[in-house]
Amino acid sequence: MKYSAYYVEEIDGAFSASISELELQKPDDGFVQIKVSHSSLNYKDALSASGNKGVTRNYPFVPGIDAAGTIADANSSEFTDGDEVIVTGYDMGMNTPGGFGEYINVPAEWVVKKPSNLSSLEAMSIGTAGITAAASVLKIQESSKASDLPVLISGATGGVGSISVMLISKLGKEVSALTGKPSSTDFLNSIGANNIIMRDEYLESPAKAMERPLFSSAIDTVGGNVLSKMLPQISPHGVIACCGNVAGIEVNTTVFPFILRGITLAGIDSAESPIEFKTSIWNKFADEWKLDLSSMIRVVFKENLQQEIDLILEGGQQGRVVLQHGE
Ligand SMILES: NC(=O)c1ccc[n+]([C@@H]2O[C@H](COP(=O)([O-])OP(=O)(O)OC[C@H]3O[C@@H](n4cnc5c(N)ncnc54)[C@H](OP(=O)(O)O)[C@@H]3O)[C@@H](O)[C@H]2O)c1
Repeated sequence: MKYSAYYVEEIDGAFSASISELELQKPDDGFVQIKVSHSSLNYKDALSASGNKGVTRNYPFVPGIDAAGTIADANSSEFTDGDEVIVTGYDMGMNTPGGFGEYINVPAEWVVKKPSNLSSLEAMSIGTAGITAAASVLKIQESSKASDLPVLISGATGGVGSISVMLISKLGKEVSALTGKPSSTDFLNSIGANNIIMRDEYLESPAKAMERPLFSSAIDTVGGNVLSKMLPQISPHGVIACCGNVAGIEVNTTVFPFILRGITLAGIDSAESPIEFKTSIWNKFADEWKLDLSSMIRVVFKENLQQEIDLILEGGQQGRVVLQHGE
């Protein structure tokens, strides 16, 4: 049997993608086969789709770090054919073919049963971006001594950023959204941002060793000079959840925010987090953290994926892109 996939090939060192028909393999022991109904676009997918060997070592390859669908061949005692499931992260979409194909074979221990009050479309509107946002919010909540100042969220219009804005706002905290997109003010206000800070203005003056506290905590999805700038602006005992690097991998700081204010710089690695942790986050999104993401998603088919990948690599995406397989 054949299945259709967004398929990336390396030819003479150049990478190109096509919609290809691939041969479906039987799942190995301990693996399940999933008929994927929806996937989503994350920054890491764009890196894999454009030949970044730090993400995907060998090509040809089918990216897609997120998938939601139905068990087609359980081949494992934990699942039954027809179960509705979600997979995010681990090696899927990195070196294990991912959700940009209509079928995936993945280890059963990577799979979460989809909560019944969350549709596959809703689950993929959340995807890895949402799991990362939720993990970041939980890190911030660990500090009981943080002030009432706003929470700063960088890359605020992006996937992780926009879901973080919504979650923090839903939890009743004031949100300062840092963005590079002047045209996204209405969008950011509509998802819960209270103040909007333009990245150019924010970065106009260089980071200082210490500054007057402006924010209680932060979710930083971009790294680099943005992270360097926010570290001395966090009030005592605040937390910065550090989860991204689109602005750079180097951070310039001193020890002062840590030894004078007790700031915590908390790392987030949602892809490799234990399946029990992911399951608990999916249950939260299905219940007390239920979000209406319909105004911030765009649903596309495989044929339109390339332009969305180009846009995310340029830093131009707003909200989330969901990939739908079939009609
Ligand atoms: N640690 C983890 O577990 C984990 C999981 C998922 C993703 N991530 C990482 O989180 C980051 C965001 O992922 P995503 O899927 O949300 O990507 P995304 O949708 O492209 O969002 C990134 C946002 O960052 C801002 N941005 C882009 N280029 C920038 C630059 N040069 N300087 C400063 N800001 C810039 C843009 O928002 P504005 O225009 O609003 O500023 C952009 O929309 C990526 O680095 C990704 O690898 C980490």
